[in-house]
Amino acid sequence: MPRRLTLPVLAALALVLVLLAGCGRVGGAKVIKLAHSLDPSHPVHLGMVHFAERLAEKSGGRIRVDLYPSGQLGTERECIELLQLGGLGMTKASSSALEGFAEAYRVFGLPFLFRNEAHRWAALEGDVGRGVLRAAEDKFLRGLCYYDAGTRNFYTTTRRVARPEDLAGLKIRTQESPMAIRMVRALGASATPISFGELYTALQQGVVDGAENNPPSFHLSRHYELSRYYVLSEHSAVPDVLLISTHLWRQLSPEEQRWVQEAADESQTLQRRLWHEASTRALDAVRAAGVEIIVPDQAAFQARVAPLHDEIAREMPAVGELARRIREVAP
Ligand code: GCU
Repeated sequence: MPRRLTLPVLAALALVLVLLAGCGRVGGAKVIKLAHSLDPSHPVHLGMVHFAERLAEKSGGRIRVDLYPSGQLGTERECIELLQLGGLGMTKASSSALEGFAEAYRVFGLPFLFRNEAHRWAALEGDVGRGVLRAAEDKFLRGLCYYDAGTRNFYTTTRRVARPEDLAGLKIRTQESPMAIRMVRALGASATPISFGELYTALQQGVVDGAENNPPSFHLSRHYELSRYYVLSEHSAVPDVLLISTHLWRQLSPEEQRWVQEAADESQTLQRRLWHEASTRALDAVRAAGVEIIVPDQAAFQARVAPLHDEIAREMPAVGELARRIREVAP
């Protein structure tokens, strides 16, 4: 179901549009603004730094990418909406945040969808993954590549969670993602969608009892300062997506489009290499800061959410079909 832009949002965005431009020119170079919500030391941000470098090199300095991390230009959802309006050239979003813009992205939100990392990347780089990147093109959002966002794990402030039953009754922050909300509810917790940038305060004030994310985001958002427990449930593996506004894409020449796509592909290769070390470092850092890392019986979590696969296939046959095709991907 496509998201509708409400009137106040449109008014605010119109103002921002005056201040921003999807693509400007400085000293003869095209300047593309790329905004997102993660910390500048995050491995996903470093992937985008590489994208900018590769694009500058390929274009001989004729295209420059300016990065705006840490939610400087708006929340994840606001950045996506700015791309649709042409007020921002590029963003990086979690595929969960794209679920409201194109149904196909929901498939990655299915819990325990991928058998392992090799299976995940075979699916993302194969026909299914490539097709999903194109799914929101008619909504002015062209996906260029995926970035590794690892697997997501629950963290909680006061209650130790080692089994799915321990989540019962807890208020868990989710992304603005129908699939994440369904999954958290299936585990017996109550789901509270909150933007990433507002989550620190929400944890601090007890608005929620916990959340879920990959290790680098848990660490670099400093949510670990407020969380005593991190349970390696690995319940989902939603990728991040590098997106370009189709308003901007259509202004580029075929040669420029090729440079952009190649730079994106090369940045993905580097970003995937950075991921594991960054994840291990993040886990070490939060452990050293006093967070208890719990290794649970993942099968218990999986059993609880397994019925979702059939439910979603019944309610959204196209998503069910994508999931079926993903299951068939080797290895
Ligand atoms: C991941 C993802 C972000 C997203 C965040 C979240 O860290 O990379 O794009 O904002 O999850 O939970 O909101």
